[in-house]
Amino acid sequence: MKHFIDINNFKKKEIDEIISVAKKIKKNPKNYFSSCKDKTLGLIFEKQSLRTRLSFNVGMQKLGGSVLELQSKDIGFDNKREKAEDVLNVLSQYIDCLMIRNNNHKQIVNLSKENILPIINGLTEYSHPCQILGDFLTIQEKFKNYKNVNIVWIGDYNNVLRSLIHLQNIYDFKLNVVVPNQIFKNYENEFIKFKNKNLKYLADPIEGVKKSNCIMTDVWVSMGEKNNKTKYFKNFTVNKKIMSKAEKNVIFMHCLPAKRGQEVTSDVLDGKNSVVLMQAKNRMYIQQAILIYVLKK
Ligand code: CP
Ligand code: NVA
Repeated sequence: MKHFIDINNFKKKEIDEIISVAKKIKKNPKNYFSSCKDKTLGLIFEKQSLRTRLSFNVGMQKLGGSVLELQSKDIGFDNKREKAEDVLNVLSQYIDCLMIRNNNHKQIVNLSKENILPIINGLTEYSHPCQILGDFLTIQEKFKNYKNVNIVWIGDYNNVLRSLIHLQNIYDFKLNVVVPNQIFKNYENEFIKFKNKNLKYLADPIEGVKKSNCIMTDVWVSMGEKNNKTKYFKNFTVNKKIMSKAEKNVIFMHCLPAKRGQEVTSDVLDGKNSVVLMQAKNRMYIQQAILIYVLKK
């Protein structure tokens, strides 16, 4: 049984295949109109979502499948009425795969290990693999050869960054990780496990952005986080000055939702180098390719 939990569970060949299918669907959606005919996708969101909800929902329908959004509490997925594994067994009698967004990465991993139903990680506190594959598709469309792209991440050490690091470990592009020192020190041991000659940590955004042609950021405080860390992010707002220190062909990326005026200024978010809406759109083609991947026998 196939699941989609984290990018570092995959071989390069498998990710290449998912991206290639996404490109083909984008180019010729009609060829895929019945790829998921008679299949049903369940969606569970224990946190808010606009893009992931819409891209999975519309994407599945465009592949000829159907979608059911399920509320954890209503179906007893919160381990109170019956065990989550028991709920999964019952779900598998009706639906063909399940996307979950929650604050409990371990639970998603454990449910996938049951091999009862293909499980897709729609974001946890640990990672956001669907987002980063969509972003990689955007990068490949903007730069014909991703190997020449120098990416800089300026922001928090969070779920989106982790999936980006997982992707870097497979594709070996240059990635500068710029995170405030006070935050980074809590993740240093984790970071060291992934470190390589093209993956660097820097504390200074101006230093980190040099020679980069792709600047990525995200909110400073993620959904479900209680600690307000914004005080550590002085000089971390991606603004015109930071953009001007990068290469001329630089693109600005943000998974959205954005807090305008915090991690990014409105002139950058809405500016000519920003590809944020292309990222949002590409989420759908990637979700479709992931669905085809997990549902293929
Ligand atoms: N980028 C992203 O996952 O957006 P949502 O939280 O709105 O789904
Ligand atoms: N890091 C953000 C991403 C939202 C898509 C969060 O988890 O809230």
